[in-house]
Amino acid sequence: MVKNRWVGAIALGALILSSSSVAAGGPKMEAANNVLGNVRSLQRGARHFVNYCMGCHSAKYVRYNRLADDLQLSEQQVTDNLMFVGTKLLDTMNIAMDPLDAGRWFGQVPPDLSLIARAKGTDYVFNYLKGFYLDPERRNGTDNLFLPGASMPHVLWELQGLQKPVYEAIIDVNGSVHKVMVGFERVTEGLLNPEEFDQFVRDLTNFLEYISEPVKLERKKLGVRVLLFLLVFFLFSYLLKQEYWKDIK
Ligand code: HEC
Repeated sequence: MVKNRWVGAIALGALILSSSSVAAGGPKMEAANNVLGNVRSLQRGARHFVNYCMGCHSAKYVRYNRLADDLQLSEQQVTDNLMFVGTKLLDTMNIAMDPLDAGRWFGQVPPDLSLIARAKGTDYVFNYLKGFYLDPERRNGTDNLFLPGASMPHVLWELQGLQKPVYEAIIDVNGSVHKVMVGFERVTEGLLNPEEFDQFVRDLTNFLEYISEPVKLERKKLGVRVLLFLLVFFLFSYLLKQEYWKDIK
């Protein structure tokens, strides 16, 4: 009986797991594997974001002076490396682009990226940035595996190089043939090799995760301190208990 119940529980677990992976669907994603506590990576990500993304995207919930604190940079370093002329340390990471123009140029207004990592997940952001491929039918000349019809151009093409999709024909249960994209093939080399480009995108993703919840960094640090405190506290309370009970035993 007990054994049957175990078998049932395992079968149910397997069912839930398999149904959730089916529900996720879509093309396979790699794990972003970014480490939020890695301040160097966050510093690099901030620089990439300013240099490559802020032409179109704002991060309007982030203030520059907060970046200085959290990313362990001096105010001078932030002013010199991360700020445009005319912005002040108390300003947020806003951009000057008029949404109407942006809509006209790209067909879509580039969204504010303050919360994107929380809304869509870090793995998504990582894969999205790596997922642009050549598609001559699109206005930009590229499409994105993870956001079909994306109106964002492949802004990192010089670093990544260009890639084209590789298709395979599969026959479904009804006997009809479908073309499925199974991967990419490099067409031109980028300035970075694939590992370096992964790191570039990982740093950016890390930065986007950080800005989507800046207190997370602090919360993790605080968590470690609380656990250490509890450990020490436990030691003392145990010794105290031994002391109180030693005559009674
Ligand atoms: C030339 C303008 C431009 C630049 C530069 C740009 N983007 Fe975009 N981005 C867009 C537009 C337009 C969209 C809206 C795409 C859509 O919904 O079709 C977008 C959408 C996005 C999205 C949301 C995708 C989604 O699933 O909704 C992310 C994430 C993103 N961009 C990240 C970045 C990052 C990171 C950079 C810097 C490396 C960057 N973008 C640089 C124009 C730009």
